Amino acid sequence: MPMPIPMPSDPLAAVTHADPAPYYRGLAARRPFYRDEALGLWVAAGAAEVAAVLAHPASRVRPPAQPVPPGLAGSPAGALFGGLIRMNDSAWNAPLKGVLLKRMAALELGGMRQRVSALAQGLPFDLTQPGAAVNHWMFSLPVLAVADALGLAVAGQPGVAMQAAAQVTAFARAMSPLATAQEIAAGSEAATWLQAWMRESLSVGAPASAPGRPLDALQREALAAGVAKEVIATNAIGLLIQACEATAGLVGNMLVRLGREMAQGRCPDESGALRDVAALVLREDPPVQNTRRFLATDARLCGADLKAGDGVLLVLAAASLDERMPGECAGKASRPWTFGAGRHACPGDALAASVAQAVVAALLARGADPAALVRAFRYRPSLNTRIPHFL
Ligand code: HEM
Repeated sequence: MPMPIPMPSDPLAAVTHADPAPYYRGLAARRPFYRDEALGLWVAAGAAEVAAVLAHPASRVRPPAQPVPPGLAGSPAGALFGGLIRMNDSAWNAPLKGVLLKRMAALELGGMRQRVSALAQGLPFDLTQPGAAVNHWMFSLPVLAVADALGLAVAGQPGVAMQAAAQVTAFARAMSPLATAQEIAAGSEAATWLQAWMRESLSVGAPASAPGRPLDALQREALAAGVAKEVIATNAIGLLIQACEATAGLVGNMLVRLGREMAQGRCPDESGALRDVAALVLREDPPVQNTRRFLATDARLCGADLKAGDGVLLVLAAASLDERMPGECAGKASRPWTFGAGRHACPGDALAASVAQAVVAALLARGADPAALVRAFRYRPSLNTRIPHFL
């Protein structure tokens, strides 16, 4: 009889644990809000508690005294990070955020499978090393799909496309608190390359024959709202960065789920199957498992007195499995918790789900075999994102 797997030691260890769901369910039910002295963080695990922290006016996405992670401060990567609306609560980003949310909602998602399949033609897939090939596609193809949806010239240009995807991946990796000095240096080089590429892409505009690019509309409206060109370029890069690791995690976790289903004799090609798998994974094995907030002032939250500067770990994956609250707040809510909620809720949710299904379909078409992949994988080291690494 196989030995039972020990529970994760804390919510950070749960992110890369083989089966964290029972632990998360227990947290949401029995410890929905508590202080973890060893982590030096408050922990919100219940759906109502996560919602309350996200909605509180004193909650900030960064520690107020540390707008940029210390490892990145003073570097080109730090400058890029500091300009992202995702990482900032300042009033300056309100006009850009308004434009960005509107443009993201207007993106055309029809025909995603065909577009991603065309982009995939330019990517090599070495069938003798399927794990490595899948790992590479998981990170590259979603970035290219988002770039293409925004109107950046990546289709039919494998050289530029591969370089752009590699630079976005390097930058995303440097943002992790677990990044090594080498990864941070690579992230800075990537930031410089991406700024130059995006500046050039925004200034060139679309060929006269092409329909208007979503990126041009975004730039036009943001300039009219008084946003500086450099900030627009930074946040256009930000969209590719946001698309990278989280969507890689969604693709990877879908492959794991498919592999397990196939082992039980189910077939992934049935119509609607990938949509159902994406929906299940977003709720039960989500790519972004937690996020953080930092208190700008003292506040009373969920029955506890928090001090200015305190950090709160919001365990989105536990909120998603909270069985205490039917309806709005619980995992059955229309929007999966993995996309966050409130002032910084992800505007890329529909895009990410559509891209991930298209990437999985392209991988299956190219010969990836989830049943084989699921037999040998581990999770990439991370404190918040659950991304399989296939061996
Ligand atoms: C499965 C894929 C994705 C997941 C799980 C995800 C998850 C999240 C989460 C949890 C947040 C909120 C973070 C917080 O409040 O602390 C967020 C914010 C954001 N996401 Fe996503 N995301 C995904 C894909 C994307 C994609 C494809 C895009 C755009 C192309 C995108 C764009 C953004 C932006 C711009 C924000 C910041 C919003 C703001 O600060 O107002 N995301 N995402």
